[in-house]
Amino acid sequence: MEILELGHPVLREKARSIADVRQPHIQQLIDSMLVTVRDADGVGLAAPQIGESLRLLVIASRPNSRYPDAPMLEPTPMANPRVLRHSEERAFGWEGCLSVPGRRGWIPRYREVEVEYLDRSGNLQCRVLRDFVARIFQHEFDHLEGLVFLDRVQNPNDAIPESEYWKKVKPLGA
Ligand code: NI
Repeated sequence: MEILELGHPVLREKARSIADVRQPHIQQLIDSMLVTVRDADGVGLAAPQIGESLRLLVIASRPNSRYPDAPMLEPTPMANPRVLRHSEERAFGWEGCLSVPGRRGWIPRYREVEVEYLDRSGNLQCRVLRDFVARIFQHEFDHLEGLVFLDRVQNPNDAIPESEYWKKVKPLGA
């Protein structure tokens, strides 16, 4: 699937709730998202990024070329996700976005979030997510609200070209 880039109006819409996760259209959408995020070396994807303004995201953390230090997790689709609780504590970390190619941002996120969502069978699930996985969730959840990480940058210098980012995290010779 083609990934829409910032400037496309769907990325700025508030996505609609899914009435029935088991509908064939939603099941196909989940499958497409899982393939798309893997092929693009992402760690997460939200349905609006492939043009479907629906409350559906996938967390698909695994080490890859864009996120070499990402933890390995079973890819997890989440429909109609909600945040039940979050830590007071926030942490900064670098984020990129498949819809904002060539940029990285230094973004504050809650260290821990307790979330509920419908799995692809339509069952309600509750999970506590921490650190990088909590960050992925908050980033993807933002897409459902029409936000991207650039909206969360606290200082204009905290959004940098990807080439500068790689110099910071992997200096030559390191
Ligand atoms: Ni994104």
